[in-house]
Amino acid sequence: MSSGHRDTAPLAGRGLRFAIAGIGLVGQRHAEAIVQVPDVCLCAIVDPSDAGKAAAQRLDVPWYDDLPSMIHSEQPDGIILSTPTKLHVEQGDACLAAGIPVLVEKPLADDLKAATIFVEQAEKADVALLVGHHRRHNPLIRKAYEYIQNGKIGAVRAVQATCWFYKPDVYFDVAPWRKQKGAGPISVNLVHDIDLMRHLCGEITSVQAQAAPSLRGYENEDVAAALLTFENGAIGTISVSDSIVAPWSWEMTAHEYPIYPTTSQSAYQIGGSHGALSIPDLTLWTHEEKRDWWTPISATSVLRDTSDPLINQMAHFAAVVRGDEAPLVSGREGLRSLAVVDAIQKSAKSGELVRLGDGHTENDPTNAVGRATNMKETKAKIAN
Ligand SMILES: NC(=O)c1ccc[n+]([C@@H]2O[C@H](COP(=O)([O-])OP(=O)(O)OC[C@H]3O[C@@H](n4cnc5c(N)ncnc54)[C@H](O)[C@@H]3O)[C@@H](O)[C@H]2O)c1
Repeated sequence: MSSGHRDTAPLAGRGLRFAIAGIGLVGQRHAEAIVQVPDVCLCAIVDPSDAGKAAAQRLDVPWYDDLPSMIHSEQPDGIILSTPTKLHVEQGDACLAAGIPVLVEKPLADDLKAATIFVEQAEKADVALLVGHHRRHNPLIRKAYEYIQNGKIGAVRAVQATCWFYKPDVYFDVAPWRKQKGAGPISVNLVHDIDLMRHLCGEITSVQAQAAPSLRGYENEDVAAALLTFENGAIGTISVSDSIVAPWSWEMTAHEYPIYPTTSQSAYQIGGSHGALSIPDLTLWTHEEKRDWWTPISATSVLRDTSDPLINQMAHFAAVVRGDEAPLVSGREGLRSLAVVDAIQKSAKSGELVRLGDGHTENDPTNAVGRATNMKETKAKIAN
């Protein structure tokens, strides 16, 4: 599948050269992923810090302290932006101006309006844009999606998602941007879970949220919860904290990255009219005979592949750059998840319910016909 009208012919038959801007916590993982992808090499690092310079030396690639000079000298085939969130749009614009495809870390931006303009410009310029919601590249999410789509749990009626962990003070001290406005757990962490909720359960049409200010004195919340309404009629509850000691988060249950200890718990529970699925442990719960709370219910472990989603994402980015695949998480998709996060922030601040559907969802939930059709589908699934 082609990602658009970009001329990708000059890339045929040669390896791709990718550059990374921001070689911090996640940038280093991208560097490790590049090594694992055939026909792709790391050609440069942009990171003004001493640690960034040292990383470039260690990885034996040219080092730059600013993005435009790197683009000018190296003309890479693709750029990974893993810089602090507030830099994403400005640096993304520089990539677009040079016509270079970009993989931008999540969240797409710290400002919805700026992110919207950025995505529109990428679409207009026909420059490929992939947003780093890497969990979608995890085979277990592919399997969960397949099970839900194939009706294994019937109509999705409710979802519960928990994202609780304790980030130590040093996490904030080594990168002070993490203490500043716009970098709290709603923006940095919950956006991952929102992306997966949208992917697995459908578009979100309204949110009602509450948040508590950081007890450590940072500029953001340290606990938040939201009630979500989906356009198919499902209801969700989702909660995040970077200051709770707990085993219930994707990080500690998905076994995705060895720096996190693993637990045998799960982070999401998706409840349907015919069964329930917990994720990431992928356990399917169904009644053995008929749907009835007085009949036995049993758990089945769903078989799935395992592979590193960061590597899968990088291989996909290479395919996107070559024009062989369309972005799995496009700029538009990243924007929709950001719109939900923005609505959660607004609702937490105002105490009001915030409706989405202002153009950020394909099936505009304010469109009564579209909503009625979705509800009709849900009713049909429940009855069967
Ligand atoms: N996909 C994921 O699981 C995941 C995980 C962590 C972080 N993130 C996202 O990645 C981004 C970076 O987060 P992090 O925790 O790795 O941050 P970090 O602070 O560890 O790394 C950011 C790096 O960017 C560098 N930098 C600062 N200004 C720069 C500039 N102008 N040009 C180039 N480099 C510059 C810093 O020196 C630092 O090395 C954030 O948007 C975050 O939300 C995603």
